[in-house]
Amino acid sequence: MTTAPDAPTWRLVDAPHAPGVDHPDAWAYHGIADLERAVGLADLGHDDLAPRPVDLWVESAHQEHVRQVRVVAVETGDEQGGAGARRVVGHGALALPVVDNRHLAMARVAVLPSHRRRGIGAALAEHLRRAALLEGRSTLFAEVEFAAEPPAGAAGAVVPREGDGRVAADLPGMAFARRAGLALEIVSRRSVLDLPLPAGAVEGFVAEAAAHAGDAYRVHTWQAPVPDAWVDQLAALEGRLSLDEPNGGLALEPEAWDGVRFRVEEGKRAERGEGLLVTAAEHVATGTLAGMTILEYAHDRPGLTEQESTVVLPEHRGHRLGMLVKAVNLREHARVRPATRRISTWNNETNGPMLAINVALGFRPAGGSAELQAPLVEVASMCRG
Ligand SMILES: CC(C)(COP(=O)(O)OP(=O)(O)OC[C@H]1O[C@@H](n2cnc3c(N)ncnc32)[C@H](O)[C@@H]1OP(=O)(O)O)[C@@H](O)C(=O)NCCC(=O)NCCS
Repeated sequence: MTTAPDAPTWRLVDAPHAPGVDHPDAWAYHGIADLERAVGLADLGHDDLAPRPVDLWVESAHQEHVRQVRVVAVETGDEQGGAGARRVVGHGALALPVVDNRHLAMARVAVLPSHRRRGIGAALAEHLRRAALLEGRSTLFAEVEFAAEPPAGAAGAVVPREGDGRVAADLPGMAFARRAGLALEIVSRRSVLDLPLPAGAVEGFVAEAAAHAGDAYRVHTWQAPVPDAWVDQLAALEGRLSLDEPNGGLALEPEAWDGVRFRVEEGKRAERGEGLLVTAAEHVATGTLAGMTILEYAHDRPGLTEQESTVVLPEHRGHRLGMLVKAVNLREHARVRPATRRISTWNNETNGPMLAINVALGFRPAGGSAELQAPLVEVASMCRG
């Protein structure tokens, strides 16, 4: 018997979980990580954003705050060789917050460049759309990363409903997401700080910011685990960030953070083989943590560090505390991770104050992502036939 020329050579399989990332049943996590690395290298020119198998495994092993749905497209011809031979050519993931933002379903679909335009992405998206509806979710989010913005005035650029930034309409992910009915709400800028910084640069930033902040504040820098005495305040700052960060028209609710959640995230970082560096500014008179910033790094990716949450409480803004905590954390980072070559971060183009600090520190634009959303009932099925 011969195979019809247009018969699919792939099928969808629920990604199995496994007792450990090196267990044979963890094949899907390895396949997804390989795929995302290939997609990153082809579409963005780097694999900085690609998750490692352990990142995926940890997300699935700890679903108390965000549940995961994972489906993979595997080549049918490979199945005779057993589980280890399954080749993942596409994957779909749905993140479903469970303690806050219970209206949201955050989707990711990716297909190997060699396997695109065969309906794999549409089949994965349809699987996720149905799963999100069954979960009673009402809003679908998706992100499409890009390597560079099209120049101002370029034909075929899509502009967001709010804020600056542009995205090429012919980017495969944009064409795909817009075909499904998602709209571009905001653009998020990725920025990279090349290391090492020129001699004396960090000291200069620290000194200038400290002079503005004065004696009313003192800084603390911790690695994980952070001291018990401060964990609840650090968690409260994470919650405050989710309340204050400008997100345009994205239907985001503030996140519910407490010390237990902060510890869960610390535990997940440890399982992922990641370190944490947090610098916080204490308001001396009240013992309140007025602001903080976090750097996070995988020990097996020595060249790259991620700049995560930075926030200053509204009543303590205007004293250069954002710059102070960031600069002090960078100084400490240079001490604990001298071999790192770049720090990467994300800021919504609507977030002028944070972008200004990052630009002053020397972060340069390095692509970004389109943040898209749609009411789930309006998302179209893209499956053929
Ligand atoms: C977006 C992506 C998942 C699409 O996967 P795919 O398997 O090629 O998608 P499909 O073949 O199912 O395409 C479905 C429809 O989307 C649209 N589409 C997909 N890629 C397109 C492109 N490059 N140009 C124009 N339209 C496109 C078309 O309408 C297509 O239907 P058609 O082929 O009948 O015209 C894939 O390009 C990818 O992995 N991109 C990188 C990751 C990403 O951006 N993900 C999307 C955000 S979650």
